Amino acid sequence: MERTKVTNLIKSDHPIENVWVKGWVRTKRDAKSFSFIELNDGSCLKNIQIIVDETIDNYDAVKKITTGAALAVRGKLVESKGGGQQWEIQASQVDVISLAPDTFPLQKKRHSDEFLRSIAHLRPRTNKYGAVFRIRSELSFGVHQFFRQRGFRYIQTPIITGSDCEGAGELFRVTTLNPSMPTPPAGKFDFANDFFGTESNLTVSGQLSAEMFALALGDVYTFGPTFRAENSNTSRHVAEFWMIEPEMAFCDLTGNMELGETLVKHLIQFTMDHCSQDMELFARFVDKQLMPTLDNIVSSDFERLPYKDAVDILQKAKVSFSYPIEYGLDLQSEHERYLTEKHLKKPIIIYDYPKTIKPFYMRLNDDEQTVAAMDILVPRIGEIIGGSQREERLDVLERQMETAGLSKDSYWWYLDSRRYGTVPHSGFGMGFERMLMLVTGVTNIRDVIPFPRTPGTIDF
Ligand code: 4AD
Ligand code: MG
Repeated sequence: MERTKVTNLIKSDHPIENVWVKGWVRTKRDAKSFSFIELNDGSCLKNIQIIVDETIDNYDAVKKITTGAALAVRGKLVESKGGGQQWEIQASQVDVISLAPDTFPLQKKRHSDEFLRSIAHLRPRTNKYGAVFRIRSELSFGVHQFFRQRGFRYIQTPIITGSDCEGAGELFRVTTLNPSMPTPPAGKFDFANDFFGTESNLTVSGQLSAEMFALALGDVYTFGPTFRAENSNTSRHVAEFWMIEPEMAFCDLTGNMELGETLVKHLIQFTMDHCSQDMELFARFVDKQLMPTLDNIVSSDFERLPYKDAVDILQKAKVSFSYPIEYGLDLQSEHERYLTEKHLKKPIIIYDYPKTIKPFYMRLNDDEQTVAAMDILVPRIGEIIGGSQREERLDVLERQMETAGLSKDSYWWYLDSRRYGTVPHSGFGMGFERMLMLVTGVTNIRDVIPFPRTPGTIDF
C-alpha cells in the first residue's frame, strides 16, 4: 500500500478502510484512554487528526511522542465526531520513525518572523512558511504555463557571465584566483590568469542573452536566479533573487506593457485558483486586505503615466518625502508607493524615463532625451516589473554605449544582432519574489525565499 498524502485524504467523499500516512506531529493531546495527534505531511496546510487508542500494541511508545516527531500511521479514515475537521484516522498501527526532543524550537505558539528567519532550516515546518513555499512552487509552474500557452520558448541563460547588463556595477565577481595573493596596484590586476582569462561575474540579468534568442525564436523567456551586490538592506532587495524575463521580437513598448499587465493579472488569478487554502491563511493572519487588494489589481486597467507626469504629481503631492523629487532623478520606493497606493490606488505603468537614469540598451525616443522604458508599480510593493523597448539601431546603440563607457569590443556579439537582421524588440524583468510578496501579503522579501542572501548573511 502506498502512503496517501493528506491533501488527497481530506478531499475524500467516503470513509476509507485502509490508509497509510506519514508526517510530523504538530501537537499531541492525551485523554484518559487514547491520544489525539495532529499530523502534518507538508502536502497542504491542513493536518489530519489521528486517534490512537490505548489498546494499540505500542501505546507506551506513542505516549513518548511530542511535537516534531515523525510518524507512519496506518488506520481507517472515518468521519470525525469532533468539530473542526471532516475526517480523522483511527489508528491501527503507529510507527514512530523518530522522536524530537523538547528542544525542538517550533513548539505550539506564535513565533516572530525574525525568530523564524534565524531557524530558516526549520521554518517550512510551520503553517505560514509551509504555505509560502507551496505557493512559491505553484506559482513557478504558473509562470511557465503562462508563457507556454502563448508560444514563448524557455531559454536558460548563463549564470556566470562577462557582461554587466544593467551597468550598475553591482556585480559579484567569480574567480578562481587565490585570495591570499598580494593585491596588485590599482588597474594592474591581470585577469588573464583567471579561470576564464577575463573578468567574470554572476549575472544581474539574462536579458542580453535572451535578446539573441528572441531574434531567432521570436518570443522567449528566461526564469532563473540573478545576483546583485546591492548593499541595501531593504525589505524588497536581496542579493540573490529569481527573475522572469520575457523578450519579444517585432514588439514595441506598448506590446511590452500589455504583456506585463497580463502577466501580473494572470499570476494573481493563478494563485487564487490553485492555492486558495494556503492563501486563506495570509488573508486571515498576515494581511486582512489581501483579497480586496488582489481583486482590485486583477480588475483594474493599469494606468499608463509618462515619467514627467509622475514627477509633476509627486511635486504637487502634499506629502513630505525623504528623497528629493526632480526631473532627472530616479523615483524612490516611497514615491512609487505614493503613486500607486495613494494617488491612483491601482497599478501604474510609468514610461519614457530620462535616458540619463536608464541602462544603455533602452531605445532612444525621438526627443533624444527619454528612452522607451517602462516600470510597473503595484500597491504594497512598488516596482514589480522593469523593462523597455530595446535600441535596435546600430548607430544609436553604439553612441549610447560610448556615453555609458562600455567597450564595443567586448559587446561585439550584442552589436552583431543589430548588424544582421535587426528588428524592433522589447522585454522586461519581473522579480519573482516581489510577485510572491504581492500574492501573500508578506512584507519582507526574506520571508518568501527558502534561504535568503542579504548583505552580511549567508547562513544555511
Ligand atoms: O528593473 P530591473 O533591474 O531590470 C532588469 O534587470 C532588466 N534587464 C530586465 C529586462 O528588461 N529583461 O529588474 C527587474 C525586476 C525589478 O522590477 C524587481 O522586481 C526585481 O527585478 N529586482 C529585485 N528583486 C529582489 N531583489 C533585488 N535586489 C532586485 N533587483 C531587481
Ligand atoms: Mg528597475
